[in-house]
Amino acid sequence: MGSPQRHLITCALPYANGPIHIGHLAGCLLPSDIYARYLRMKGKDILFVSGTDEHGVPITLKARKEHTTPQHVVDQYYDLIKNALTEFGIQFDNFSRTSRPVHHEMARDFFLKLLEKGVFTVDTTEQYFDKEANQFLADRYITGTCPNCGNENAYGDQCEKCGTSLSPRELINPRSALTGNAPVLKETKNWFLPLDRIQESFLNEFIDSHKADWKSHVYGQCMSWLNDGLRPRAMTRDLDWGIPVPVEGAEGKVMYVWFDAPIGYISATKEITPDWEKWWKDERTELTHFIGKDNIVFHCLIFPAMLHEHGDFILPKNVPANEFLNLEGDKISTSRDHAVWLHEYLREMPGREDELRYVLTSISPETKDADFSWKDYQARVNNELVAILGNWVNRVVVLTQKYFDGAIQEYDPGKYEEVFAEANEYVRSADESAENFRFKEAQAQLLNIARLGNRFLQETEPWKLIKENPEETGTILRASAELMLMFADQIMPFLPRTGERIREMMNLSKGDKINAGQIMNTGELLFTKVEDDIIEVQLNKLKKEEKMEDKNEQTIKPEIVYDDFAKLDLRVGTITEAEKVEKADRLLKLTVDLGFEVRTIVSGIAEHFTPEEAKGQHVVVVANLAPRKLRGIESNGMILMAEDSSGKLKFVAPTGGADNGSPVT
Ligand code: 2FM
Ligand code: ZN
Repeated sequence: MGSPQRHLITCALPYANGPIHIGHLAGCLLPSDIYARYLRMKGKDILFVSGTDEHGVPITLKARKEHTTPQHVVDQYYDLIKNALTEFGIQFDNFSRTSRPVHHEMARDFFLKLLEKGVFTVDTTEQYFDKEANQFLADRYITGTCPNCGNENAYGDQCEKCGTSLSPRELINPRSALTGNAPVLKETKNWFLPLDRIQESFLNEFIDSHKADWKSHVYGQCMSWLNDGLRPRAMTRDLDWGIPVPVEGAEGKVMYVWFDAPIGYISATKEITPDWEKWWKDERTELTHFIGKDNIVFHCLIFPAMLHEHGDFILPKNVPANEFLNLEGDKISTSRDHAVWLHEYLREMPGREDELRYVLTSISPETKDADFSWKDYQARVNNELVAILGNWVNRVVVLTQKYFDGAIQEYDPGKYEEVFAEANEYVRSADESAENFRFKEAQAQLLNIARLGNRFLQETEPWKLIKENPEETGTILRASAELMLMFADQIMPFLPRTGERIREMMNLSKGDKINAGQIMNTGELLFTKVEDDIIEVQLNKLKKEEKMEDKNEQTIKPEIVYDDFAKLDLRVGTITEAEKVEKADRLLKLTVDLGFEVRTIVSGIAEHFTPEEAKGQHVVVVANLAPRKLRGIESNGMILMAEDSSGKLKFVAPTGGADNGSPVT
C-alpha cells in the first residue's frame, strides 16, 4: 500500500452530561491532539474531528437528576466542554454535536442504507419495563447486582466495578433507575446488527490483519470478544431521547447511542467541508480513532462492522486506545467527585496548561493503567520543566543579554557538529515514537535536547570564557540558540505554548530562522515552581470530597484518648491585621493578638473573607502548632474554622467574648 494522501484523526466524543476531567484528557483528547499537531507540523493533509455525544441514557438520567430537560443538559455541557478544550489548546478542525441536523440526517441515511441492504435482523424480545414510569428500561436505566463480581450497583450494559459488559437480563435483582421498582418483562421489537454473521464474514479477518500493527492490549481485547463469539446487538431502543428510527413500525424508538455516536465523526467532517467524501470514501485516507479502552469494542468491532456493511466507507487503520488513568491511587469517579476537572484546573491554575499537558503525557496510560498524583505533578514540573528546560532557556537568554545585549552572534555550525548530531538523533527518535503513538517516549526524547543544552553550557562554561574569548562565547550562545529553536519547533505538538513562547523570546515568528545580529527579547521565566500550598489546595479539595462522603455516611475520625486532646494548646485571639498574600488566591496573612504575644498566621481563607472582613474577628488558635512556611512567610499557628453545608467557612469563637490569650479547654 502506498503512503496515505491524507490523515483523518478522530477523538472519542465525550458525553455532554458532565465536564471534562483528566481521565478524558489522558485517555484520548491529548494524544489525538498531539498526533494531529505532529502530522500538521510535518506538512501532512490532516483533519481532526470530535464533538459531544448528546444522546443516550446517561444524558436523560442527568436531566432527571437535575430536574431539567436533556436538551438543556447538552446545551450547557457542550459550551463548558468546548470552551475548556479550546482554552487547553486542543486544536480540532471541528468540534461538533450529535444533536445537530447534519448528524441526524447522516445517521438516518446510514440506518436506511443498512435497512435497504437487508443488513438488520428484526426481532421481538422481552425487555424490562417499568410499569410505574410506563417506560422500557434500556442500558443504564436498569441497575442490579453484577453476576460476575457481586457489585450491587451494576448497570444494564456494564459493571463499572469489574468492567464486564452485561445485558440487562444478566443482572441479579434488577431495579429500575427511575423508580427503584422491580421491572417486568414486556415484548418489544428491535432492529439488530447481526454481529455473529459479520464476525464470520468480515471481523475475524479484519482484526487478524491488525495483529502486528495495533497495540497488543487493543488486539487482545478484540480477540477476547471474538473468541467468546459475538451476538446480534440491538441498534434501536425504546426511548424518547435520540434520533428517531426512520422505519414504519418503529414509532417511539430511537437509534442506539452507540449506533449514532461514531457516525458523528462522519457528520463532523461533512459539517465543515463539502469535500467530506474524499475523507471517508477514498482508500488513500488513513483513518485513526483515538479512544479510551472502554470504547474498544465499539470502535474496533461494531463501528467497522457498520462501515463494512454499509459499503461506501473506509475502515480505521489504527485504534490506539489508551488504558485508564487513576487519581491518587483511586479510580476517577464523577459520582464521587474524585476527579481533577479541566475547567477548574484552568481557573485555579491559570497559565499552567502546558504543565498539565507535560505531566499527562509523561504518565500517559498508553499500554497500562497509570496514576496521577499531585505530588508527582509537582515533582515533574519542578524537577523537569523548571530545573531542566526552563533553566536552560533562561540561561541562554540571560547570558546573551548580558554579554551581547541580546544580539545573537555569527558562528560556524561545523564546529558543533557533534552536539547537533546528538540533537538530531533525539528528534529522529521522537518522530519514530510519535508515528507509532508512543507519545510519552517522544516527549522524553525531546526533553533530552534540553538536557543536552544544559550539558553543553556546563562543559563550555561561557560565563568563564567571556573574559578571555568573547568571540567563542558568542558562538557557543549562538549554537545554544539554534538548539533552542530546534527544541521549540519540535516540542510544539506536545507543549504548544512553550514552543511559541521560546520563539517569542527569540523574537522569531513562525518559520523564521535565526540570523546573526538578531536581538533576543529579555526573557521571562518559562515555568515557575509549583509550591507546596498549590498542591495542598488540590489535595484538600479531593479530601473534602471524601469528607463529604464521610459526612453522608455519618462516620467520624478514629477514637482518641484525653491525652491526645490535651496536647493541643488552644487560645482565644483577635485578628488585628489581614492582607492578601501575593500570587496566592487562597491565602491571607493575618496578625493575631494572643494577649501574651502577637503572631503571624497564614490562613487559607481568602476565598471566604476579604482582609477587611477578617480584621477584628475573634478566633480560636492552635497555638502550639509547629511553624510552617507558606509562600515564604512563616506561619505560627492555625485558626479554627467551621464549614457550613455550602462549604463556606465560619470563624469559631467564644460566644460572649473572652480575653485574648484565654485557653480553650
Ligand atoms: O464513552 C464515551 O464517553 C462515549 N461518549 C464515546 C463515544 S465515541 C464515538 F463513538 F462517538
Ligand atoms: Zn462486576
